Amino acid sequence: MVKPKIAPSMLSSDFANLASEAERMLHCGADWLHMDIMDGHFVPNLTIGAPVIESLRKHTSAYLDCHLMVSNPLDYIEPFGKAGASGFTFHVEASKDNWQELIQKIKSKGMRPGVALKPKTPIEEVYPLVENETPVEMVLVMTVEPGFGGQKFMPETMDKVRALRQKYPSLDIEVDGGLGPSTIDIAASAGANCIVAGSSVFGASEPAQVISLMRKSVEEAQKIN
Ligand code: DX5
Ligand code: ZN
Repeated sequence: MVKPKIAPSMLSSDFANLASEAERMLHCGADWLHMDIMDGHFVPNLTIGAPVIESLRKHTSAYLDCHLMVSNPLDYIEPFGKAGASGFTFHVEASKDNWQELIQKIKSKGMRPGVALKPKTPIEEVYPLVENETPVEMVLVMTVEPGFGGQKFMPETMDKVRALRQKYPSLDIEVDGGLGPSTIDIAASAGANCIVAGSSVFGASEPAQVISLMRKSVEEAQKIN
């Protein structure tokens, strides 16, 4: 059975204190740290790049789950590999012609390949990447339009999670956007096991409680299904 992974999105952290924010989240029970890379082109927002991952890597051995919202993911593989990224998730909308090359290169740099899709992108578009001889090892189903934290969860994206889980019982399926205590149950029962949460975790007075509540929700859903 796939393991629950709770991944606070560092986009909602205090970027001026990234190392201590990361440590705080791990202390609160986070499995992964979700890093949102935005290039100001694929999405209308600009965040962090490889130099920041490299700096953070010096302070933690945690799994850095990098979500690349960039138009040219190929250009980022080498620098992210060197910087110490753990997972490298590119968008299917930005990799129509070169996803096979991307998967190969990501693996050759010692990272775990994943593919993300926007809310309006049909789920069928990622099937070839999961069924490829060298497959992606995670699918990230965006549950908001990529670009910003703090948006409202889109329940209509759950059909995609259900379809994926039915087809691939042992695939890591990540959901990202608007997840928190009020939306986790619907995502968990649809079959998501990797949960990204920014504002609900960082905005909580007790982040550890929110993290543990989300983990329990995934565990309970797995017992039923
Ligand atoms: C949005 C990012 C998310 C974001 C989630 O483009 O991919 O990771 O930080 O933030 P919340 O949980 O606040 O919706
Ligand atoms: Zn993200």
